[in-house]
Amino acid sequence: MLASQTRDPVFETAVRDQLDRIESALVKAADADSPMVREAAQHVILAGGKRFRPLLVVLASHLGPAAVDADVERAAVVVELTHVASLYHDDVMDEAGLRRGSVSANSRWGNTVAILVGDLLFARASDLVADLGPEFVRLQARTFARLVQGQLAETVGPTPGQDRLRHYLQVVADKTGSLIATSALFGAKLAGATAEQQRTMAEFGEQVGVVFQLSDDIIDITSDETGKTPGTDLREGIPTLPTLLARTSTDPADARLLTLLDSDLSSDADLAEVLGLLRRHRSIDEARAEVRRRAESARLLLDGLPAGPARTSLEELCDSVVSRTV
Ligand code: IPE
Ligand code: IPE
Ligand code: MG
Ligand code: MG
Repeated sequence: MLASQTRDPVFETAVRDQLDRIESALVKAADADSPMVREAAQHVILAGGKRFRPLLVVLASHLGPAAVDADVERAAVVVELTHVASLYHDDVMDEAGLRRGSVSANSRWGNTVAILVGDLLFARASDLVADLGPEFVRLQARTFARLVQGQLAETVGPTPGQDRLRHYLQVVADKTGSLIATSALFGAKLAGATAEQQRTMAEFGEQVGVVFQLSDDIIDITSDETGKTPGTDLREGIPTLPTLLARTSTDPADARLLTLLDSDLSSDADLAEVLGLLRRHRSIDEARAEVRRRAESARLLLDGLPAGPARTSLEELCDSVVSRTV
């Protein structure tokens, strides 16, 4: 996701070299004595992924002069391992059959192995973060607690009378914004950024993280190229911005859509029909407009940071989160 318009080849090469070293470190961190456990633990890492969180750590680490390469790489591995661990668990919860274009771990080895491998990767992340000191350990622990509470809130659903849109936005901030905020904060801390700049980066990460998940939820409906099964959220009955917006419609032309949204979508024909109706529905455009507004507000936060290739790349990251199709 590193855009090439930064026009600073030295900076770009430095970032790419760091990302390459992070790749090797990630695979190593998921090693295990048993060949079967190793294969299961490296499966989702080797299947690819955008590495959005490591990129954010690396870019933020270039905002100041102090970053030590080894620490930046360690922090990047910590956030990606935490993310990957949560994906193993998420695919069990969402009964997902595909992840990163490959069969999901739960489909291949069953739920028990997928859950335990997620735990193993989280333990490896905890081990690595200890080398960065107690402040990083606490941030990591609190982030993971927020992420888990976001997943729990999504599972439990809104309390009676609670506004569904507010509930959804809180879920998104907690399950996704939290780790992306911490990725930005880790990088800024390692860069030796001022306290004010660190706060800005944490807020930027939080806002970009929400935009990232809102985009992901739109793509779950609109794209056939995500490496995941389209409509997984719909089938699981998980509310997303387009479906929440569509549900507010009083247009009689939307009656069939609303009936389908309230039904069990276990039949492939029903799922295909609801996907077709939603893809043409104005709620997708409204959700996209909300994504653009929020990305612009995140980008404005960057005005308070020192100008340079790191800030330019972070600005470009806002565009890529809006325009992404996978
Ligand atoms: C997927 O995350 C789950 C969300 C929080 C949206 P990513 O979209 O970062 O997934 P990968 O890492 O690229 O596979
Ligand atoms: C994933 O949310 C969030 C976390 C793993 C914490 P989703 O369930 O919406 O993500 P995908 O679509 O499966 O990647
Ligand atoms: Mg999921
Ligand atoms: Mg989920």
